Amino acid sequence: MCLFAPLANISDQRYPGFHADWPIRSFGTSPTPLIAIRSGLGPPAPLRYTQRGMASQKTFYIETFGCQMNVHDSEKVIGTLEQQGYARVETEEAADLILYNTCSIRDKAEQKVFHRLNDYKALYRRGKRFGVLGCVAQQEGERIFERAPFVSLVSGSASYRKLPEMLIQIEQGATRVTGLDDRQTDETFETEFTARSNPHRGYITIIEGCDKFCAYCVVPYTRGKERSRRSSSVLDEARRMADSGFTEIQLLGQNVNSYRDPEGKCSFAELLAAIGQVPGIRRVRFTTSHPRDFTRDIVDAIDAVPTLCDHVHLPVQSGSSKILRLMQREYTREQYLERIAWMKGAKRPISMTTDIITGFPGETPEDFEQTITLLDEVQYDGVFAFKYSPRPNTPALSMPDSIPDEEKSHRLQILLDRQREIQRANYEKHIGQILEVMVEGLNPARGQVVGRTSQNKTLNFTTAQPIAPAPGVYLPVRVTKTFPNSLVGEAVV
Ligand code: 5AD
Ligand code: SF4
Repeated sequence: MCLFAPLANISDQRYPGFHADWPIRSFGTSPTPLIAIRSGLGPPAPLRYTQRGMASQKTFYIETFGCQMNVHDSEKVIGTLEQQGYARVETEEAADLILYNTCSIRDKAEQKVFHRLNDYKALYRRGKRFGVLGCVAQQEGERIFERAPFVSLVSGSASYRKLPEMLIQIEQGATRVTGLDDRQTDETFETEFTARSNPHRGYITIIEGCDKFCAYCVVPYTRGKERSRRSSSVLDEARRMADSGFTEIQLLGQNVNSYRDPEGKCSFAELLAAIGQVPGIRRVRFTTSHPRDFTRDIVDAIDAVPTLCDHVHLPVQSGSSKILRLMQREYTREQYLERIAWMKGAKRPISMTTDIITGFPGETPEDFEQTITLLDEVQYDGVFAFKYSPRPNTPALSMPDSIPDEEKSHRLQILLDRQREIQRANYEKHIGQILEVMVEGLNPARGQVVGRTSQNKTLNFTTAQPIAPAPGVYLPVRVTKTFPNSLVGEAVV
């Protein structure tokens, strides 16, 4: 998998690209004001909504776990709910409907959801409704109703198109509403009501689901089969976003580069180039790429179109061809390194980041050593490393030679230590360079402006100007100091 774009922070075990600092908010018009009439304690009676003045009491709270795909799905869910007359609130206590958009990629991510449900279950007696969305919902299905009987809605991402109908059922008092059977759909969850959380940088999903079935991964079971969006629809959305002020677009997909245009008009690389040429768009990112479908024309497109960011996240998972075969990744170490060589041969330096799993069943010390030598060879700018976590339904679950947890942790630590040194050296090379950043915000405690480079590196900087630059502004910044995960500098203007 693959969809996790790097924040170039090896110590950050959240999914890369999860911008918790941007509150999700809508830029659309307010929905019709409605008020909920509820009766007493005990199991909630059907919610009935009546119109009254400007106050809106049909409220929801949503919390998102996991990857960028989930973050963006939540933006679409928020837009859909607002269209249905719901107003978003910031706390569980203030909401009528509490939604958790969940992640099940590793055991810990899954546990978080059940802890959170447990923390707030008392609210059920006050008439709140709970919905579990996303991968845990799809994976656990109706079992969630057994484990957490106060949950009213369980829906996987392939069923979000039906959210409006499901909401009506909940409003009418249904207590076990499910959206679980749509994983074979050819349709994508497109919505014109997307409530994007950041007014400058926005996601566009171009492909949903995954057909790769890597031996350790739940995604093909939770997000269903691979389906691409029409290129004309993607381009229309990019143009609309540019017209409303977005300058950066991030194309999303579990395997974004496995994109196949249903209209047959363009390849992934051509789509990238077309989006990079939409007037007003200054940066295009894409995540996550699968090595098997990573073709040379992607590097050619980056070379040819300056708005395509010079960064590629290419998860390798292991440096050992034997382990890659057991993982069913369908490439060898050598084939992976060939793709790295294309990028190293590009006209402008391309920053490369990856995902790695330590302690996959059968990984010997020699296999692990090959992962370490791969790090040395590639010289990544960021690595997201995870201990192997057995997942339900996956082929790896029944593989012999499981590695003890302490050994997985030990290998993880060795890997992170080595990578930190590689990054320290890589980042030092930027000293003295002038890099363009997009301003993301302020760090008042440090008196610094936070920017991001095209290579997706954080560059914290000071400015001689009396007023700090606003988020979304692009500026040249001279790098004066570096750390293994960030750069420090001074604005040039
Ligand atoms: N155990 C550990 N890591 C996993 N990933 C996916 N499934 C598992 C698992 N079962 C990692 C992969 C993937 C990243 C998003 O999460 O490295 O690229
Ligand atoms: Fe990525 Fe493989 Fe999981 Fe598909 S099955 S999402 S390719 S890790």
